[in-house]
Amino acid sequence: MTYETILLERKDSVGLITLDRPKAMNALCEALFNELASALDELEVDEKIGAIVITGSEKAFAAGADILEMKDKNYSDMLADNGLTKNCDRLAQCRKPVIAAVAGYALGGGCEMAMMCDFIVAAENAKFGQPEITIGTIPGIGGSQRLTQLVGKAKAMDMCLTGRMMGAEEAERAGLVSRVEPLGNYLSVTLELAAQIASYSRPVVTMLKGLVNAALETPLAQGLETERQQFKATFALEDQKEGMAAFSEKRKPEFKNR
Ligand code: CAA
Repeated sequence: MTYETILLERKDSVGLITLDRPKAMNALCEALFNELASALDELEVDEKIGAIVITGSEKAFAAGADILEMKDKNYSDMLADNGLTKNCDRLAQCRKPVIAAVAGYALGGGCEMAMMCDFIVAAENAKFGQPEITIGTIPGIGGSQRLTQLVGKAKAMDMCLTGRMMGAEEAERAGLVSRVEPLGNYLSVTLELAAQIASYSRPVVTMLKGLVNAALETPLAQGLETERQQFKATFALEDQKEGMAAFSEKRKPEFKNR
C-alpha cells in the first residue's frame, strides 16, 4: 500500500513510520490518522516485525490536529462525522511495542500521539505542549488524561491551562520521556531500542506491555495478581525454557516466539 501523509519502512524486525506533511509541520489531518491506522494494521500482522517506531521530522514530530481542516466545523459536524476522532485511538491499541522518537514540536494532538506510544525518546530540541487553550479549544485525543497520568496534576494543569511548551530536559525530569538524545542520534538510538525489544520473545513482550499499561488503570492488588499469573504463564512457553537454558549455558538465547 502507498501512503501520502506518512512513510512506512521496514528495517529488519522494526517498522518505522514517519509522519510526512512537512509543509504543515506534520499536522494531523484525517487522512493521516487513517493512513497511520492502515500502516499499524500492516505492521501488526507482519510476523517479521517485533516493534514499531513513530517519528516526524527534526523540526516537528507533529504540531497538533490540522487546525485548517477543522476550523469551520460546528458542533453537529463534529458529532456527526466523528472524523477527527475515528482512527485516533488506533495507536494506543497497537499490540506490538511502539516507541515515539520525537524531535521539534510535539503539540496538541502531536503530544497526545506521542503519549499513546509505549514510551518516548526525545531529541534535545523536542518541545511538548497542549496549546489547545490558546486557540479556543481543549485536548481531544487524550491530552488532559494521559499527560496528568504521566507528569502529575501540577505540571499537567500548568501545561494545559497556560498552553506553554515543555522542553526535552524538563520532560525527562517530569517523566514524560524516557530519555533525551542529541538531535543527530535520537532516531538511531530509538531504532536500536526497538530492535532490541524485537529480539526478545514476542509473547513475553506482549504480556509485559499489557501489564505495564494495566498498571495505570488497575488497582495495585489486581495488577499484582495478574502479573503473578502471567509470570507463571511464561513457564508454559518454549522461550522461557530457552532463555533460562541459554543463561545457564552462557550463550545467547534463540527465541522462537512460542
Ligand atoms: N494545523 C494546520 N497547519 C499547521 C499546524 C496545525 N496544527 N501547525 C502548523 N501548521 C502550518 C502553518 O499553518 C504553516 O503553514 P503555511 O506555511 O502554509 O502558512 C506551517 O505549518 C508552518 O507553521 P508556522 O509558520 O506557524 O511555523 P512557526 O515555526 O512560526 O511555528 C508552531 C510553529 C509553534 C508549531 C506553530 O505553527 C503553531 O503554534 N502551530 C499550532 C499548534 C497548535 O495549536 N496545536 C494544537 C492543535 S489542536 C489539537 O491538536 C486538538 C487535539 O487535541 C486533537
